[in-house]
Amino acid sequence: MFIGDNLLSKINQLFDFSQFSKIAVLTDENIPKSLVNKVEKSLKRELIKIIILPGENKKNIETVKKIWETIFKNGFDRRSLLINLGGGVIGDMGGFAAVTFMRGIEFLNIPTTLLAQVDASVGGKTGIDFQGIKNGIGVFKDPVGVVIDVDTLKTLPKRELIKIIKQSIKIKLNIVKKDSKEKDLRKVLNFGHTIGHAIESLSWKTDKPLLHGEAVAIGMVAESKLASLLGLLSDKDFKKIKNSLINAGLPVNIKNIKSKNIKKIILSDKKNSHGTINWSLPKKIGKVLINVKAREDLVIKAIESIII
Ligand SMILES: NC(=O)c1ccc[n+]([C@@H]2O[C@H](COP(=O)([O-])OP(=O)(O)OC[C@H]3O[C@@H](n4cnc5c(N)ncnc54)[C@H](O)[C@@H]3O)[C@@H](O)[C@H]2O)c1
Repeated sequence: MFIGDNLLSKINQLFDFSQFSKIAVLTDENIPKSLVNKVEKSLKRELIKIIILPGENKKNIETVKKIWETIFKNGFDRRSLLINLGGGVIGDMGGFAAVTFMRGIEFLNIPTTLLAQVDASVGGKTGIDFQGIKNGIGVFKDPVGVVIDVDTLKTLPKRELIKIIKQSIKIKLNIVKKDSKEKDLRKVLNFGHTIGHAIESLSWKTDKPLLHGEAVAIGMVAESKLASLLGLLSDKDFKKIKNSLINAGLPVNIKNIKSKNIKKIILSDKKNSHGTINWSLPKKIGKVLINVKAREDLVIKAIESIII
């Protein structure tokens, strides 16, 4: 993994690209073309460009089919490389398209959103949404490399950004390294995601679709509430978690979504086994318990606490 300034212009110095028979770059229409141009110029070879429509609703098998068709048409073989240049949608879907093409070709991730740089770039999760379930289909596979060029996030102060990214990646990397297939320890990272993913999926059908981070923030509040209803988390820590999310400008509640619909989606979540929900819940700030079971009425109560 490489993190720094202006890395795209010298990407040829970071990896040996001569080993790849063909190289394609997957990106979406919102990503500045100048980023693709920088990579192409540095590599001094023509890249096959796959430019898709942006948005979570394009993270599906239809788009993957288009990616497969394009690389197939362009003579990709098992020594070819797919570069995923974009946010988490591009990284997850491009990774999935690559690992399933001809039983797996290499892919390189160049994340261009803060979420993708901090969260999606580490952990080897690839996937697409399926039948309304986020990341319902996917596999674990690490990219051949990750290039985090903070120049792609021009609006934030760079030194601050580098610091935040490095710290966050280090924390996630430590956890993922210890538990690469999400058997145990890594489940702590699921805090907020069980309810968060359900809310995110349901929000797609409303006039206010949520971003992933926003849905997870609301999920964290609901799951902290559940932890406090279970007597695991103190009231003081619950308030602290909720207030720090509010201070970060994140939403902590939701309108126009029914608790029974949230529950229905949670039960189909792939993180649960045999119909039992395995919660990752905070015990105190910085300490998450995994595989916690909770009574249904408490779960509903926690979910209802975030609906306004
Ligand atoms: N694999 C993992 O471990 C992991 C972890 C967290 C989230 N995710 C996934 O990541 C996705 C969310 O990622 P995201 O927040 O990056 O969303 P995203 O990929 O949809 O990007 C957000 C928006 O920003 C645009 N964009 C991206 N880079 C840009 C740039 N440099 N300049 C201008 N516009 C730019 C995109 O076109 C899009 O419209 C979700 O699908 C989520 O499931 C994956």
